[in-house]
Amino acid sequence: MAVTIKSPREIELMREAGRILARVHEELGKELRPGMSTLDVDRLGEEMIRSFGCEPSFKNYQGYPASVCVSVNEEVVHGIPCRERILQEGDIVSLDAGVIYKGYHSDAARTHGVCEISKEAELLIERTRQSFFEGIRYARAGCRLHEISRAIGNYAGSFGYGVVRDLCGHGIGSHLHEDPEIPNYKQFRRGIKLRPGMTLAIEPMINLGTADVVWMDDDWTVVTADLSLSAHYENTVLITGGEPEILTLTESEKKAGRAATQ
Ligand code: MF3
Ligand code: CO
Repeated sequence: MAVTIKSPREIELMREAGRILARVHEELGKELRPGMSTLDVDRLGEEMIRSFGCEPSFKNYQGYPASVCVSVNEEVVHGIPCRERILQEGDIVSLDAGVIYKGYHSDAARTHGVCEISKEAELLIERTRQSFFEGIRYARAGCRLHEISRAIGNYAGSFGYGVVRDLCGHGIGSHLHEDPEIPNYKQFRRGIKLRPGMTLAIEPMINLGTADVVWMDDDWTVVTADLSLSAHYENTVLITGGEPEILTLTESEKKAGRAATQ
């Protein structure tokens, strides 16, 4: 499938899908506490998504059984919510969700700590987030896709972290996964030239230890091969004629960003 350029009408719908998903992340992130099951998190998330008149993008996608991927500690992505998995103080929890608004998808992920977490976990989460921002410095018309991949991989790799290679970001629009694939590490091909109207889900997955991952027997849950901690940060991004527009940034992230530039 060719990489699609969204029309002004489609961009408006993607923006709304992004705004709604940002609110879901903002509110769901605040609900995490010890004693809660990962299924509780999914149910709350699904309720929020539906309360905004959206459908959860992930539910039944290729058989995935839930609305929110809840991945704890060594789980990298696609953790299946479950009644028996109970959050504990010190856990790190990656929440990945998508919504469909009038036929258009948004996709975003955040990793949160449950109460106090270790310093190394905190740094891993912050640097995973920062790797996304290093990447989107090249999310500009005229840049090539590999510039984003390289910036993410070099930044995260500079701390000795394992940059996951077996999973990628992706184009997004009327489908959850569209072309192009967006790896998070240096490529030997330049990839496509970016153009205004492209919408991309950029999603570094970074491990404290090895980059290697394995799939669990449920065929979904991806864990680090050495069981080290993993963090995930994802946004849906619109390529414009100037600065990239991050469609899924939460209000508190926007505030923090404004404070940082003042
Ligand atoms: N953000 C993930 C991805 O882009 C979420 C997909 S979960 C699935 O691959 F269940 F929908 F596959
Ligand atoms: Co995604």
